[in-house]
Amino acid sequence: MMPGRARLDAAIIRERIERVYAEQTVLDEAGVSHKILPIAVTPERGAFIADLCRAERPSRTLEIGMAWGLSTLHILLALAEDRGDAAGEPHLVMDPFQGSRFRNAALRLVGEVGAEAMLEFYPEPSEIVLPRLLTAGRQFDLVFIDGDHRFDPGFVDFFYVHRLLKPGGLVIFDDVLFDGIYLTTQWAETNLGYEPVATHPPAPRRSRRSQISRLQRAHIGAWRKPMREIERDRFHFVPFFNGFVPLKDIPKPDPRRVERNRLNHDGLLALRAGDRVGARRAFAAALKLDPSYTAGYLRWMRTFLPPGIAAMLTGRTRG
Ligand SMILES: C[S@@+](CC[C@H](N)C(=O)[O-])C[C@H]1O[C@@H](n2cnc3c(N)ncnc32)[C@H](O)[C@@H]1O
Repeated sequence: MMPGRARLDAAIIRERIERVYAEQTVLDEAGVSHKILPIAVTPERGAFIADLCRAERPSRTLEIGMAWGLSTLHILLALAEDRGDAAGEPHLVMDPFQGSRFRNAALRLVGEVGAEAMLEFYPEPSEIVLPRLLTAGRQFDLVFIDGDHRFDPGFVDFFYVHRLLKPGGLVIFDDVLFDGIYLTTQWAETNLGYEPVATHPPAPRRSRRSQISRLQRAHIGAWRKPMREIERDRFHFVPFFNGFVPLKDIPKPDPRRVERNRLNHDGLLALRAGDRVGARRAFAAALKLDPSYTAGYLRWMRTFLPPGIAAMLTGRTRG
């Protein structure tokens, strides 16, 4: 597909994303229906990508790994909201299996929301397309990597993405959970000075990290390229695997505890928003799950205080 310029309609894209998640299926080029899970980004990860795109307001975006087209639609949605009627650079995507494995379902989806001309698509592997973009002198403000998840292809993707990103640009890695991708993000931080920006789910505060939670990994995360590259001589190498524990050896967190923490987090957000009834309900549900969590009783009691005082006592809440 040749690059083009066109107007994007955010309402149409948003409505289609909601419909696809509700139906959990997409149609391929021949009209055959396919289940999008477990390959497509979940609605939470899609929202994470779109939110970062909204915050960054990138002009030039690149994506590796299109599958059924859900992450692509989230990026196009954020671009559409930002640009309105203004034309802009098309979103560049590559995937060698779009025709064979995914039967061009994602291309059909993009066409159906009227965004075909806003897509610069290459049906080739990233290891072929990325060096070509570099040769052509292309640069990008925001990149989403969700292609081959093994260590060497993922690392090679990032090797080129680093060179294609503008200083201060943002790279989003999906599936940070997987060892190969996780190690690549650690390389980016330790050797190239990338700064972690955000993850989903959000990381617990440093002071609150238990032994187990220190080992837990996010599902998706974003890192910012430094404005000035670190000076590296030809022997430069910072070990990036110290303390590395393979995913298979990381203890699984107790699901009851995870749910309790989620309810507490919801309660704190409700309290900060002045919704005492919602907060009380969330704290009570958390206590029902884990009556030994003493901090939960104090939080529940706070919901009976005047809203301003309760919100003040709640302090800063991530989320
Ligand atoms: C997990 S799926 C991507 C899901 C998609 N981002 C979404 O959110 O719906 C991984 C994708 O990477 C693609 N892929 C695998 N190897 C690749 C490569 N070398 N270059 C580009 N894409 C690749 C696969 O065809 C597949 O579509």
